[in-house]
Amino acid sequence: MSYRVAVCVSGRGSNLAALIEGLRDEPDAEVALVLSNRATAGGLEKARAAGIPAEVFDDPADPTEWITRCGRRDVDLIVLAGYLKLVPAQVVSRYRGRMLNIHPALLPLHGGQGMYGRRVHEAVLASGARETGATVHLVDEAYDRGAVLAQSRVAVLTGDTPETLAARVLATEHALLPAVVVAAARAGSPVPLAETPTELES
Ligand code: GRF
Repeated sequence: MSYRVAVCVSGRGSNLAALIEGLRDEPDAEVALVLSNRATAGGLEKARAAGIPAEVFDDPADPTEWITRCGRRDVDLIVLAGYLKLVPAQVVSRYRGRMLNIHPALLPLHGGQGMYGRRVHEAVLASGARETGATVHLVDEAYDRGAVLAQSRVAVLTGDTPETLAARVLATEHALLPAVVVAAARAGSPVPLAETPTELES
């Protein structure tokens, strides 16, 4: 039986595109549904272009709507890939251990409410860190707090701006997220990656 993944997006959906591509050769896993809180999210177009059902929440704070939409598509795993709203607690509880988020920093550093997009990379640069990266973790009731499954590492270079750093981190996200989802599909549920895949080394 296929492992069915729902991906939630609020914006452009480059991680969604990477995931669709990464699952192309996985016979037993597929992106079965894309959900968004924004009708104009670029990720919805990417889903439709790939023939994947793409739906917009009437009310993203309504747990029944989440559970109905995911239940209708027999979703095994929910992936938050640039989804900027808090997931209702009942949904977190229902999908505990079966919901992932990707964050563009090395959690527990530079995460939490309000830490998204450019702000994350500004905070990394302001901290003087020599290294940053991306994290895939299980979702719990707080932003960016659940158990870490995998991280990629990216060197902070002299002269980096939030934009240059964001671009290099994003490139690693596009390998990291499919690697975690493929591992979850093969294991039947999310598992920590034993080591960072070599292609992610910067
Ligand atoms: C990524 O940097 C992800 O880590 C963060 O939001 C961004 C989404 O980018 N949670 P995209 O929509 O996948 O291009």
